[in-house]
Amino acid sequence: MAHLSILLIAFFISFSSCQQCEQTSDVDRFDCYPENGASEEKCLARNCCWRQPIEKTNRTLKRPTAFRDVNVPYCYYPKDFPTYVLQSTETTDFGQRLRINRSQSTYMPHDIMNLTVDLIYETAQRLRIRIYDTEYKRYEVPLEVPIVVRKVDQTDYDVKVNPTPFSLLVTRKSTGVTLFDSSVSPLIFADQFIKFSTKLSSPLVYGLGEHRQGLVMNITNQWKKLTFWSRDFPPVQNINLYGVHPFHINPEFLPGTSTQFHGQFLLNSNAMDIDLQPSPALTYTTIGGIIDLYVFTGPTVQNVIQQYWDVIGKPMMPPHWSLGFHLCRYGYNSIDNMIATIKRMDAADFPYDVQWTDIDAMSLYLDFTYDETNFRGLPDLVRILQASGKRYVNIIDPGISSVQPAGTYIPYEEGLKKNVFMRKYNSNELILGKVWPGTTAFPDFTHPNATDWWTNIASAFHDIVPFDGMWIDMNEPSSFIDGSTDGCTTNNLDNPPFVPNVLGGTLGSKTLCPSAQQYLFPHYNLHSMYGYFEAKASNAALKTIRNKRPFILSRSTFAGSGKFTAHWTGDNRATFDDMYFSIPAILNFNMFGITHVGADICGFGLETTEELCTRWMQLGAFYPFMRNHNDLGQKDQDPASFSYQAQQSMKQALLMRYSLVPFWYTLHHEAAMISRTIVQPLFFEFPDDMDTYNIDQQFIIGRAILVSPNLKMGTTTVSAYFPSDTWYEFPTGTKVETVGSFTTLDAPLSKINVHVRGGFVIPMQIPGDNLIIGRDNPFTLLVAQSQWGNASGNLFWDDGDSIDSIETKTYNYLEFSLTNATLLTIDALVANYKDSPMRLALIKVLGVDKTVINVNVNGKNYPNFLYNVYDQILLIYGLDLNMITEPVQTIQWTLAS
Ligand SMILES: *[C@@H]1O[C@H](CO)[C@@H](O)[C@H](O)[C@H]1NC(C)=O
Ligand SMILES: *[C@@H]1O[C@H](CO)[C@@H](O)[C@H](O)[C@H]1NC(C)=O
Ligand SMILES: *[C@@H]1O[C@H](CO)[C@@H](O)[C@H](O)[C@H]1NC(C)=O
Ligand SMILES: *[C@@H]1O[C@H](CO)[C@@H](O)[C@H](O)[C@H]1NC(C)=O
Ligand SMILES: *[C@@H]1O[C@H](CO)[C@@H](O)[C@H](O)[C@H]1NC(C)=O
Ligand SMILES: *[C@@H]1O[C@H](CO)[C@@H](O)[C@H](O)[C@H]1NC(C)=O
Ligand SMILES: *[C@@H]1O[C@H](CO)[C@@H](O)[C@H](O)[C@H]1NC(C)=O
Repeated sequence: MAHLSILLIAFFISFSSCQQCEQTSDVDRFDCYPENGASEEKCLARNCCWRQPIEKTNRTLKRPTAFRDVNVPYCYYPKDFPTYVLQSTETTDFGQRLRINRSQSTYMPHDIMNLTVDLIYETAQRLRIRIYDTEYKRYEVPLEVPIVVRKVDQTDYDVKVNPTPFSLLVTRKSTGVTLFDSSVSPLIFADQFIKFSTKLSSPLVYGLGEHRQGLVMNITNQWKKLTFWSRDFPPVQNINLYGVHPFHINPEFLPGTSTQFHGQFLLNSNAMDIDLQPSPALTYTTIGGIIDLYVFTGPTVQNVIQQYWDVIGKPMMPPHWSLGFHLCRYGYNSIDNMIATIKRMDAADFPYDVQWTDIDAMSLYLDFTYDETNFRGLPDLVRILQASGKRYVNIIDPGISSVQPAGTYIPYEEGLKKNVFMRKYNSNELILGKVWPGTTAFPDFTHPNATDWWTNIASAFHDIVPFDGMWIDMNEPSSFIDGSTDGCTTNNLDNPPFVPNVLGGTLGSKTLCPSAQQYLFPHYNLHSMYGYFEAKASNAALKTIRNKRPFILSRSTFAGSGKFTAHWTGDNRATFDDMYFSIPAILNFNMFGITHVGADICGFGLETTEELCTRWMQLGAFYPFMRNHNDLGQKDQDPASFSYQAQQSMKQALLMRYSLVPFWYTLHHEAAMISRTIVQPLFFEFPDDMDTYNIDQQFIIGRAILVSPNLKMGTTTVSAYFPSDTWYEFPTGTKVETVGSFTTLDAPLSKINVHVRGGFVIPMQIPGDNLIIGRDNPFTLLVAQSQWGNASGNLFWDDGDSIDSIETKTYNYLEFSLTNATLLTIDALVANYKDSPMRLALIKVLGVDKTVINVNVNGKNYPNFLYNVYDQILLIYGLDLNMITEPVQTIQWTLAS
């Protein structure tokens, strides 16, 4: 060490005179050598500063090869590192167009010396910053985003341009808070290396998926590196995973004011690192495309999300049946085992809607086939299930076997004719990988023939096995070998000068060569959008085939995938930790606009236990998408396979879910129409309560239902936080006494703690065996009074699966409102869907603190009510009110004075 220090001092003497390396704090160093193997020599060759951290850290100079060391960098940019300068400014219809240029090259090959910067004032709350090559058109993400050609007059943000060195500063007009500030580090824009940084307004960052981590990234004392490049790997921390969502939300804490939020989205699909450091600051490093950055000014967190979804598209409205319970396993191995499972589920009286099969039901793992020996009779079974109101979903992988005997496998042969498979670099030969069925070709879903081909082969299979939804797995795309059966080239796509911190160290790790040709662009650019385009094609195919609202479940997703698909968190494991991580994951995917999301309940890999599976079924009953899925070789984990007692606990949670489906369905409608998340973290609703910012073991459904699962093995209590408001236990209706703090709740294995927030009317329905059978069952209303004696709610209802119920207005939309603690009105604002009786049977009013002496329904005295003094609950029962016959109906009660 002494030897090294002497060396360092020697270098500083000789080099630091011409560089501005002085730093008062480690946290403001921006890493100039993020690759493995940094050394003083290599650092200085980049014209950067090399110094030990001022404060001692545990960083080792020799970096591990698997994961890059993330901490105070030794090698960092001097303040005078050469970068771009402003050359000209032009006022345009959309805002401003700047030209910037540099004269000195950086350490990366092919610097782009002349850049154009467009500042597009798209809306009052949305700024788009585009930085691109002035001379040559570069790759841009083929996502349909709004094109704004005229600047808005008034904006909530201000933009300032610093000419030399070039940087941009975006601030919030009302408070002066920084929303984007690139002055902290030099802009580098080379052909395959684009890097820029921004200061953050607080050290709390949310979003940036898909990664396995807690909800909040608190970088107060932490350096963090997140990598983006879609990848098939069982979710573990600190690696790139299945999907790519470079979107984050950053709160702005100013003393004495309400917390505001802003967000950023980097519209870029190339392999990317995002580094976070305690300054606090964020650095984007991407290896292609352009800088296309959106800044959203909120100011509420839901506003930020709305502004983001305005760019990427709103989530699809899922079919009603997909809100039910889904059951799947890899390794039924035979139709008899599958039938036995269905029978024991029915015999045990579990509500459930959707039966799935995994790849073991395929013949030789070939897409669009079923095993006619082990799953003989599958088509009939599917029809029987459908006749009883259940639905069936099967798995489809993108890899299409290319080695079947000629004339036997139409998907491949038709694909060849239609030219839809990906090709090797600069060649007409197909690029081949290896997946479940052996050697496979990979469809290019950006090819103009691909959707038709996909629709045709899916349709031919649908004629045999009439599936209701498509489960598209392995679409990172995943391959069991690196690159291809013939390896990869040595060109700059397969061997870029800089590789982000991807698992496996190379871009072709367990996927195709980045140089593979797709119709639109090389795979190098489109890799992380593979699942996006497959979901888009599958959604279109299902619409054509079934002429109903499609249900797609995709493992790999990109920004905007929510328009087409639901998502699950992939191949998790049966551990309590995995169960916990599912909560931040579903909350994040809601921010990413993929609201219909869940995790494999009870765990996919490893063997579950009765305790874990009970807890997880209880939690999963409150995921937007609820599927129990099990891996090959594990013992059964369908609810009916457990003890009578465990079954009762699971069933209770399932009945809670099924009774709340009208509420869930309405939330999906709101997500699709007005861009609201289905589930959200507590701080979304209580932004001025600092205690809520790192809570990720609880979450809120809509704005009204707080779920506090027990996530700890062997415990029977849970410590739950109740933000200051009125809360009632669900379904009992008992009021929570202590709010504004953590409270210990009883949480025996038989119970999940769920609470309803005062101020909300929750539409519910009496559950049936499945959602089809129960569709016409009576509705009930849960009216949770606020401290002011008011509450409101709404209900969207249609036939559940037509494609155009909104366009044709064939739906019902009701609003519920409680005022003055005594008057409940039901407004049928839209009442065009008449096929289902919308009978209201029961109203339960919580928080009624005076005796009720009489009840009137539509002006007439109504005798069937009960008032529970102890719990302060009013129950109006035996109703038979059709909620859509009159535009307004009233239920009023009189309180004893
Ligand atoms: C360095 O590591 C040791 C042992 O792991 C730990 O006790 C110490 O707190 C660490 N120091 C810093 C500055 O992180
Ligand atoms: C930028 O371009 C202008 C005009 O061509 C030129 O005068 C100037 O020297 C350039 N600046 C740099 C830093 O290259
Ligand atoms: C940059 O732009 C200038 C004109 O402003 C032009 O003369 C020069 O050739 C351009 N440089 C490159 C590398 O394209
Ligand atoms: C689409 O498929 C047809 C054959 O059906 C083929 O002639 C045509 O070249 C294909 N289009 C493209 C762009 O490859
Ligand atoms: C963030 O981390 C700092 C330092 O560890 C801690 O003091 C602060 O409470 C954390 N903030 C949140 C919201 O968790
Ligand atoms: C109830 O009344 C309070 C106080 O007037 C108001 O702030 C709140 O928005 C009302 N809530 C509903 C659901 O109408
Ligand atoms: C509000 O409720 C009180 C007590 O039940 C009643 O006396 C009063 O008339 C109600 N006001 C309205 C506007 O309905």
